[in-house]
Amino acid sequence: MIDERIIRQADMYFTEKLQEYHTGPQVSDWNSVEAQEVRFQQICKILPEDCNSKFSVCDYGCGLGDLYAYIGRSYSNFAYVGMDASEQVIASAKRKVDGGVFLHGHNIEDKHDYIVSSGIFNIKSDVSDEDWRKYIVETIHMFNQVAVKGFAFNCLTKYSDVEYMKDYLYYADPLYLFDYCKKNFSKNVALLHDYGIYDFTILVRKEL
Ligand SMILES: C[S@@+](CC[C@H](N)C(=O)[O-])C[C@H]1O[C@@H](n2cnc3c(N)ncnc32)[C@H](O)[C@@H]1O
Repeated sequence: MIDERIIRQADMYFTEKLQEYHTGPQVSDWNSVEAQEVRFQQICKILPEDCNSKFSVCDYGCGLGDLYAYIGRSYSNFAYVGMDASEQVIASAKRKVDGGVFLHGHNIEDKHDYIVSSGIFNIKSDVSDEDWRKYIVETIHMFNQVAVKGFAFNCLTKYSDVEYMKDYLYYADPLYLFDYCKKNFSKNVALLHDYGIYDFTILVRKEL
């Protein structure tokens, strides 16, 4: 079970961002569209190579649903579900995005070909490192249960420059998570840590 305290905290944090900024990448705590899209570019590597493929994707922690349009630049035959812990963020996404389905919540109930998630493991506030690590592990177990073909997520990296690291953020160990995914979910796991920011992406392919 995902820790409800963490969900409530995410809800409060991002609802406040929405009230402050209303729209744009700052609602999701990204500095710029470029910072948001460099992450989209990585997580979308889990999606089919053939841009005519038909697939379903759940965007977990979808924010304002910007990924819907991003995927639409490359694919035309996909079903998109965006899910977010903040009811107000989901209401804004519904108003803003023409297409897709948006759900308030944090338990994925249906199966999808792919689960993708960008930015949900970063803001730990005063949750302990141990509890945050458990939250990540429980969440990726859920992804594994509901993803038919694969899933992708990102985290800030513990290989960040110390002078820029902040106490309220969580810097994950990419090697631990790579190893965990390999041992528990699939033989086909990629660790992407070569895109120039203090962040890494893990792709878990359940079907090649
Ligand atoms: C950093 S923002 C990223 C939004 C979007 N993925 C993007 O990149 O533009 C994280 C979003 O995930 C939501 N969130 C965080 N943890 C979540 C969880 N466990 N379940 C569902 N939503 C979550 C927050 O409410 C917030 O809107």
